[in-house]
Amino acid sequence: MAPAPSPTSSVITLTINGEKHTLPVDHRTTLLDALRDHLDLTGTKKGCDQGQCGACTVLLDGRRAVSCLQLAVAAEGREVTTIEGVADGDRLHPVQQAFLDLDGYQCGYCTPGQICSALAVLEEHAEGWPSAVTTDVRPEAGPAPLTPEEIRERMSGNLCRCGAYVSIVQAVARAAEARTDRNEEVVA
Ligand code: FES
Ligand code: FES
Repeated sequence: MAPAPSPTSSVITLTINGEKHTLPVDHRTTLLDALRDHLDLTGTKKGCDQGQCGACTVLLDGRRAVSCLQLAVAAEGREVTTIEGVADGDRLHPVQQAFLDLDGYQCGYCTPGQICSALAVLEEHAEGWPSAVTTDVRPEAGPAPLTPEEIRERMSGNLCRCGAYVSIVQAVARAAEARTDRNEEVVA
């Protein structure tokens, strides 16, 4: 006889960095705990565990999300990208390279979340999403230039206990420039 379904747990399948993982989880398990404790994907960090620090940021269907506030069961059927899935094999993503080149970290604990957030910032900016400091939000004004002020605002959900903010902003700016250069090369 098949076991009776449990009201408190389920077997779910998560797609993480393009790979499917099937695992049993308590319904109260957060995506962060599923990644770290069930799947050994410990690149995603736990800071506050209450949505305030951004250390646990991952991409869900390409948009940033704090994985400590996301239930694992609710992530079923969605594409999860963690820091382990950002590089292309041995080749770092340009955002990772910029953090490395410009020392966008000290202890590195917040860095996976900073990088996942920065990836989403570049997408959001390219799609013309305004931020709280964008002064001209008319669609015809086009995307606001990604100034240090814009970067600081857009990255403000990611805290760094080491205070490496100056070089984090420089790294995001460098990655944004590299992205523009790549897009221009494609158009040329
Ligand atoms: S651990 Fe998720 S926001 Fe701090
Ligand atoms: S580099 Fe240490 S917390 Fe950000």
